[in-house]
Amino acid sequence: MTLKASKRSDIPMFRALDILREANKRAADGENIMRLEAGLPCFGVPQPVLDYAKQVIDSDPRQTYTESLGMSLVRDRISLYYRDRYGVDFDYSRVALTAGSSGGLSMAFMSAFDVGDKVAICTPTYPPYRNIINSLGLQVVEIQTSAETDYQPTVELLEQCGEKLDGLVICSPSNPTGTMIAEDELERICNWCDTNGVRLISDEAYHNITYEEPAQTVAKFTDNAIVLNTFSKYFAMTGWRLGWMILPEELIDRVKRLAESYFVSPPTISQHLAYKSFDHMDVLDGYVAYYKKNLDILKAELPKAGFDKLSNAKGAFYVYADVHHLTNDTEDFCRRMLGEAKVSMTPGLDFDVSRGHTTVRICYADDTDDIAEACRRLQEWQK
Ligand SMILES: Cc1ncc(COP(=O)(O)O)c(C=O)c1O
Repeated sequence: MTLKASKRSDIPMFRALDILREANKRAADGENIMRLEAGLPCFGVPQPVLDYAKQVIDSDPRQTYTESLGMSLVRDRISLYYRDRYGVDFDYSRVALTAGSSGGLSMAFMSAFDVGDKVAICTPTYPPYRNIINSLGLQVVEIQTSAETDYQPTVELLEQCGEKLDGLVICSPSNPTGTMIAEDELERICNWCDTNGVRLISDEAYHNITYEEPAQTVAKFTDNAIVLNTFSKYFAMTGWRLGWMILPEELIDRVKRLAESYFVSPPTISQHLAYKSFDHMDVLDGYVAYYKKNLDILKAELPKAGFDKLSNAKGAFYVYADVHHLTNDTEDFCRRMLGEAKVSMTPGLDFDVSRGHTTVRICYADDTDDIAEACRRLQEWQK
């Protein structure tokens, strides 16, 4: 007898993984593939931070649980960072360390919303928002954005959505577009959410990976928002699985109780690494300068291969291309590109269910020579 599996877990697979698997297979078979499909830094943790981790393990090999919201030392370091970096002052008790920002995402939705609540996401979007919202029995309201607003929401788009929202998720700089919400618009969105009783969830995972103006945190404009951030991107600690949240006062205890039951505590050794990482931001800023060089190459070279409708990327390590003039089926397009040009990109359907068949995401956190080579191959391919 086959027993049932829950409906809530029946969420879509990431289509991007098909391309990833195919690219992995080809690479394993000896093909020289230029990889623009992944979504993680090409660098690792700075060496002195790793050395520190070794010292910590040597002096305390047990590495037991910590408090469920994380070590006070690290939470305090994060609140100091907000004072220095953003000029925003809050007590460390509002900081919760989480198992990646993915751990924070699920606790954000669980602590703030009940089954049936309406939460808006802005497409193209980071796909887990939709999947987590659906799996928790909340309703997804989709706000479609376009190149006209740099694929970001505006107060006007929120007004037009015509739904009484309980929540709104924003992401600036964005995965998959790399675009940002300008500071004055961010403040308007925060005010709009406060006026309309909408709980704002701001995913700031790509803060500090910005190339023009620095990103501003919503914590500067409102105390009602849940801020999510991570050590995976700027801090290059992807596999160490640590993120953080800044919580409104009324959610601190709720998240603490959820964290106790769902996770017990965030990974201990990763908290030590994270603490030390704040002393080596000069190295991390060097990584950002490297990404910027790659983005400049893409902006100059991709249009020569017909990819001339690029998002106005100013941060993260993604650029999003509207390729409707080249294909009406980006899954097939990306598969052909991989087979013929030996370049891998992510088709847009994961990010935008209704329009992603004409878009692709390009990740440029990779070797600069490979980025240049990928452009050369694409130019040849599209001749
Ligand atoms: C926008 C965004 N938010 C959150 C995450 C999750 O990152 P992590 O769980 O590694 O912190 C990612 C990962 O790609 C992301 O792109």
